Amino acid sequence: MKKIARYVLSFFPKSFEESLRFLVHRVRDSFGLARAYRYDFDLYRRYSGIFRPSMQGVIEAKIIKAYHRVEKGLSLADPRPGFGKDAVQTVLDGVEQYVQRFGQNHTTHRALNTLKEYVRFNSANNADVAWVEARLQRLGNSIGSENAGGTRRVTRDEIAAAANIDLKDFFNSRYSIRQFTSQAVDDDLLTQAVQMAKKTPSVCNRESGCVFVVSDQEQKARLLSLQNGNRGFGDQADRVLVITSRLDAFLTVGERYQCWIDGGLFAMSLIYALHSLGLGSCCLNWSVEPEADQAMKQLPGIPKGHAIIMLLAVGHIPAELLVAQSPRRPLNEVLNFI
Ligand SMILES: Cc1cc2nc3c(=O)[nH]c(=O)nc-3n(C[C@H](O)[C@H](O)[C@H](O)COP(=O)(O)O)c2cc1C
Repeated sequence: MKKIARYVLSFFPKSFEESLRFLVHRVRDSFGLARAYRYDFDLYRRYSGIFRPSMQGVIEAKIIKAYHRVEKGLSLADPRPGFGKDAVQTVLDGVEQYVQRFGQNHTTHRALNTLKEYVRFNSANNADVAWVEARLQRLGNSIGSENAGGTRRVTRDEIAAAANIDLKDFFNSRYSIRQFTSQAVDDDLLTQAVQMAKKTPSVCNRESGCVFVVSDQEQKARLLSLQNGNRGFGDQADRVLVITSRLDAFLTVGERYQCWIDGGLFAMSLIYALHSLGLGSCCLNWSVEPEADQAMKQLPGIPKGHAIIMLLAVGHIPAELLVAQSPRRPLNEVLNFI
């Protein structure tokens, strides 16, 4: 077939062949793009909260979204008494449904703690919250003892004291590391890093970011074979992390790209947390077509209902090594005062 095409093209000028090649690539890429969007569309439709309102994760995300609205309201300089009735209603409905179907958990505890503070604030400001109190009483056993949810009083001085670190050196000393020692990475270090990264902001505090740590050599090799940027160093990294964003944390059409934002922010925090613990890491892009994504989700432990944000090669840094300089654009190309 190729031979025939070449023979036919030999009757035309070279520029015609180039235009034809360009056109063929355009058509192929347009179909590829449409197919990839279709894949993302199916993933979001199947696993987000839009069409699966009764999934456990979706109910939980709804509760978090709603109680966080109440927390935010309470944290304003001058909250309006009686604010956010619809959010409160959503929290109560959600918690009732959740407790009945799945039992209580940290989310139901935090949600109800927040409502207790809402009641205190409104009672002090003569707003009618008897209806909230009555429902809270019925849910009394689900409130739990954890003192989380609602607001916390902080001072500027305490924030400044804790944040007074030289971030410039910290940022500038992080490089993508592509050489690792053979020393094993302790689970405890990874746990500490993830614990730190959990403080990353996320939309309505829904924390979609998750990490899957791959240590098994065979699984690691399979994983790395699906990724196209780790040749020459991926196999040296003691661990490969798969950073994902759970889609059941997202509830609306408007949130269809939120997984990439929240997952990306979470990934960045994790990279800096690992850096603070002396570990080296290198992001590994997950810029793949649907087949690779599907293959990844066949691996044990990688959930189908998560968007894969990136992989991260993690290991100990040799005493001396070369890193790519990766010089940055001039500041004036990035910073625009408009
Ligand atoms: C999302 C993302 C994907 C990346 N993918 C790869 C990759 O597949 N392979 C690789 O060697 N580096 C990868 N990198 C690392 C970049 O090349 C690197 O961050 C950039 O050159 C800046 O260098 P620095 O990290 O040393 O500051 C990736 C970085 C990001 C943020």
